[in-house]
Amino acid sequence: MVQEFTRDQVASHSSKDDLYLIVRNKVYNASEFVAEHPGGEEVLLEIAGRDATEAYEDAGHSEEADEILVDLFVGELSANLDVGNPEPVVEPSKPITGYNKQDLTISKPRKEATDSAPNSLSSFLVHESFQETELVEKTYISHNVVICRFKLPQSNQTLGLPIGQHLSIGAILTQPDGNTKEFIRSYTPISKSHEAGYFEILVKSYPKGNVSKHIASLELGDKIRVRGPKGAFLYTPNMVRHIGMVAGGSGITPMLQVIQAVLGGRSSGDTTEIDFIFANVGLEDILLKERLDALAEMDQGFRVHYVLEKPPSQWKGRVGYVTADMISELLPKPAQHVKILVCGPPPMVRSLKISLEDLGFERPLAADNPGNQVFVF
Ligand SMILES: Cc1cc2nc3c(=O)[nH]c(=O)nc-3n(C[C@H](O)[C@H](O)[C@H](O)COP(=O)(O)OP(=O)(O)OC[C@H]3O[C@@H](n4cnc5c(N)ncnc54)[C@H](O)[C@@H]3O)c2cc1C
Ligand code: HEM
Repeated sequence: MVQEFTRDQVASHSSKDDLYLIVRNKVYNASEFVAEHPGGEEVLLEIAGRDATEAYEDAGHSEEADEILVDLFVGELSANLDVGNPEPVVEPSKPITGYNKQDLTISKPRKEATDSAPNSLSSFLVHESFQETELVEKTYISHNVVICRFKLPQSNQTLGLPIGQHLSIGAILTQPDGNTKEFIRSYTPISKSHEAGYFEILVKSYPKGNVSKHIASLELGDKIRVRGPKGAFLYTPNMVRHIGMVAGGSGITPMLQVIQAVLGGRSSGDTTEIDFIFANVGLEDILLKERLDALAEMDQGFRVHYVLEKPPSQWKGRVGYVTADMISELLPKPAQHVKILVCGPPPMVRSLKISLEDLGFERPLAADNPGNQVFVF
């Protein structure tokens, strides 16, 4: 018979030598695997004893990784005996006090968008269960990047996503062997939190990507399944004096959400300064550049610094990977009222964590600790 574990029982195995994890409601003993994990010991130690499903999915593990899981399997997560330590439930969005009434989006305001902060609109997202929403607009902004607009059931409803958090999209996809498998991935809307009746996500589609390719191939009228809010970070106005950001590629989306909230809150007293290093391969890879440039143009407290790995010949910005010197020059120095937000591909995140620690920033205690001076989305 398969052994059953409660979340509390799993939580008691949280040391390096005795390390259990939950992935997709199954319990794994990863004690013997920690030292050889290709993604590093640290990430497993940080999530030891807890539900690692989302982190495991977000890292984009291969079928080989799934096969290793089979060897580490020790039991099922108990459905009935599960008394303690559920995933933290995040309160649905409360509009940020005095959220700016001005629409900062550069595109023409849409018919269904409100231009004032709603006080009484209901929220759509439910933390633990998936809900369906319909694709109503699709805009390609490059050959592999698409902005998808999804309709909420009621025109006066908001998504209900606090600033700094993301949603999960689940897709049940047919595998080459004919079986179906569920994939769950994180996405951060680029529409503003108070916009009613719809939300928009920007998706970079990878040729071998499961969910990104699926979303990019949706037709108008097709539905997706979303749930949330997810994530530990929550932006509140003036929570720190100065935010430094580093993002790579589609890691722009959580940053944009925070930038829009800060700039949108200026008229009600949000004075947070932002310096944002945005790293990409080529000029054509910089997502939402026009929108970022326009925001930087209109707000003196927001600066964006582009870094390209393969710049065009006339490029005047910075070149190469994001280095400790670049961070030291462009971002705020370590201080109590400073926060650094990071979002990008795993190798970039790993090297940034080392650079930031070398520069004197506090080492994140756990990846998802919202109090961290350095927060990785
Ligand atoms: C908090 C958070 C917010 C996010 N917000 C967004 C967002 O707003 N928009 C967005 O597009 N993505 C976002 N992502 C990334 C997103 O969750 C998925 O990881 C991404 O869409 C790839 O998922 P997939 O299922 O298509 O690929 P997977 O099935 O995970 O990967 C399969 C294969 O696709 C390729 N692939 C996948 N990811 C990459 C990559 N980064 N670089 C190169 N090749 C890759 C690789 O070949 C990989 O083996 C976010 C991630 C996090 C953690
Ligand atoms: C017991 C559970 C786990 C197993 C068996 C496992 C296995 C693997 C394997 C085999 C790889 C190599 C790439 C691949 O084949 O996909 C990998 C990479 C990686 N894993 Fe895990 N993993 C586990 C849990 C986690 C968790 C919980 C996280 C995140 C918190 C994580 C983060 C990563 C990262 C970031 C990489 C990428 C390394 C890189 O490409 O540079 N893993 N893992």
